[in-house]
Amino acid sequence: MDWGMRNRLSRIIQPRDGRSLVIPIDHGYFLGPTTGLENPRKTLEPLIPYLDAIMLTRGILRNCVDPNFDKGVILRVSGGQSIVGPSLSDEDIITSVEEAIRLNASAVSLSIYVGTEHEHQTLTNLAKLIDGCERYGIPVLAVTAVGKELEKREARYLALCCRIAAELGARFVKTYYCEGFDKVVEGCPVPVLIAGGPKMETEMDVFETIYGSLEAGGAGVVMGRNIWQNEHPTAMIRAVRAIIHEDATPKEAHQLYRELVEEESKGA
Ligand code: R5P
Repeated sequence: MDWGMRNRLSRIIQPRDGRSLVIPIDHGYFLGPTTGLENPRKTLEPLIPYLDAIMLTRGILRNCVDPNFDKGVILRVSGGQSIVGPSLSDEDIITSVEEAIRLNASAVSLSIYVGTEHEHQTLTNLAKLIDGCERYGIPVLAVTAVGKELEKREARYLALCCRIAAELGARFVKTYYCEGFDKVVEGCPVPVLIAGGPKMETEMDVFETIYGSLEAGGAGVVMGRNIWQNEHPTAMIRAVRAIIHEDATPKEAHQLYRELVEEESKGA
């Protein structure tokens, strides 16, 4: 791997443990001002000290993040559809490689929709993006299985998506946790991160999901709603960080979360 590619990747996946805590705030690219992200700057600011990288579109990066931000930036470069439009999978590349370089992105991300009517279009989008980005040492993150595809949250399907993304040249992949997640990781030669999906019932569910994914060989999270939609997002990200980078168990993370919430309430 060339120096530039390695350097950019190391801003996201931490070289000391091969893991990463990415906070995505890109949901507005098809959902608009979704709950918790009405004001992305306000949502993001308290989380910055505890995250390794953020994932977002160029519009939110330019308007809501200070240019002295010193963590990794994953620029979402696919889109062109909306939640009220005819098809969530009908995405194209919406931001150029030149723009990613101008914004000093550490990586770019694009969604693929395997098993949908737009499978071919989104997979060839990924391949073209990778060709363009490899030229400049920019890693591409493939985002697998979003929207309706969540129904297919099982190891055989997710392993298929992740493997195809890696075969096309993605340097890392984001997918969902599932039963038999070790099979997904085993079949994918590049790091696999998990998204959180819609807010889970309890904090413990989140901690157990993350812990389970790491135990199965996962490389961390690109987790949004289960952190910034929590009543106590700072306590939540600190507990998640303890699992990812300090090997905390779900029980230890939960204890930390409760202590931090209590501290917060005393300070209020
Ligand atoms: C899809 O809208 C985006 O790529 C999100 O960044 C991704 O789904 C991860 O966010 P969450 O943990 O909220 O599912």
